[in-house]
Amino acid sequence: MRKIDITTIINNLEQYSDTTVTLGGWVRSIRANKNFGFMDLNDGTTFKGAQIVFGEALDNFEAVSKLNAGSSVLVEGTLVLTPENKQPYEIQASNITICSATDETYPIQKKGHSVEFLRENAYLRGRTNLFNAVFRIRNACARAIHNFFQSENFMYVNTPIITCADCEGGSDVFRVTTHNFYDAEYMKTASPESDFFGKNVFLCPTGQLEAEAFALTFSKVYTFGPTFRSENSNTARHASEFWMIEPEMAFCDLKGDMEVMEKMIKAIINHVFDTCLDELEFLDKFVEKGLIDKLRSVVSNDFAHCTYTEAISILEKNNDNFEFKVKWGIDLQSEHERYLCEKIYNKPVFVTDYPVDIKAFYMRLNEDGKTVAACDLLAPGIGEIIGGSQREERYDVLLDKINKFNLKPEDYSWYLNLRKYGSVVHSGFGLGFDRILMYITGISNIRDAQFCPRTPKNCNF
Ligand code: 4AD
Ligand code: MG
Repeated sequence: MRKIDITTIINNLEQYSDTTVTLGGWVRSIRANKNFGFMDLNDGTTFKGAQIVFGEALDNFEAVSKLNAGSSVLVEGTLVLTPENKQPYEIQASNITICSATDETYPIQKKGHSVEFLRENAYLRGRTNLFNAVFRIRNACARAIHNFFQSENFMYVNTPIITCADCEGGSDVFRVTTHNFYDAEYMKTASPESDFFGKNVFLCPTGQLEAEAFALTFSKVYTFGPTFRSENSNTARHASEFWMIEPEMAFCDLKGDMEVMEKMIKAIINHVFDTCLDELEFLDKFVEKGLIDKLRSVVSNDFAHCTYTEAISILEKNNDNFEFKVKWGIDLQSEHERYLCEKIYNKPVFVTDYPVDIKAFYMRLNEDGKTVAACDLLAPGIGEIIGGSQREERYDVLLDKINKFNLKPEDYSWYLNLRKYGSVVHSGFGLGFDRILMYITGISNIRDAQFCPRTPKNCNF
């Protein structure tokens, strides 16, 4: 058996014209009368499926005619070009092998299920047009990210998933332990020292600190991997496991950092336009009207910039609109972030120079002593998609910050030492992969941007 991917056929139609091909896939829909029928077959290698035409000459014509959506089949047939039709080709089947026929319990019998229903059946939802499009674009985004960084001389590095560096401030981490918390007797003598690694360790909430060590050796690096946070926020934008891209650049300040962010976002969107236009057209029609225009405008315009202090003075004037009232020093809530990029700028906006107290210890202190050289990139409809900063490269200032943040300098000894052994101005950022996917697809809930979403009280598949 040599199955040909439907994508290979679509990309080489002339070559396969009038030849016999074998396709394998899952039935999306079937229409049949007494003498012949049509099957929409999708093998997951493209957004659009293949149209199979079958007739009573098949020895299993009746069984094929009665197949339900979701059944798996192998189809042998002749590829015939049909330039006069909507579909540029069809397969005239000479043989259809039924691999597995679904029965009436198959959950996705027809079109138009709600995303909530499909979430309950997450293991099958990739077989719908919507999720086929989303996960195909997810793949395109991943490829675009690697292409972009590789072409800009960044080195891909793998930072650890099990980490002892808890850098985003402490509370929202999952512990990694072999202690048996359900055995009360055992736990009486259990301690971090008696645990598997002899200390407290966590699932990584970021790979940044290690990425900094790589960057101070290889100049420009990026990570691309899973990240874990146990924040108990049941929002449409937070997942307990999500993917993050964390570039880190030596000899780069915040301005250079933001230039890379903007260039990267545009490169990702351009690649999706180049490779997933069918998917975007579908999403524009059924998920977010105007999606394509929005994305075209993002790639052809400069992003907006404003400082935190400017943002606060804009928002303060509109305090009537907010549940959380705004004043200098507060952490921006999603309602404020969305107001800024949706109502004021109507495009992605960099907010820079946040108060030192609301940002992480590693961000570089500005000359004013009150703010840090940090930035968040906010996108309309989503809010924050990137968080980044210039890093504190001065040993004494960093040590002071670690103490002020009530962290233990001994836990950060190697990180501090990097400031003694060849320290340079350096910067980096974290792009939330699932969030940029939401922005590009118009999907409004992060649970629909991940194949197996993990959120509080939800780890089902
Ligand atoms: O702003 P964050 O917390 O920044 C960091 O972790 C830095 N260490 C990054 C760096 O400078 N290397 O997270 C970065 C991005 C956010 O902007 C957001 O897009 C995403 O990660 N993110 C989440 N995405 C989904 N679910 C969550 N719970 C997320 N938390 C953050
Ligand atoms: Mg952030």
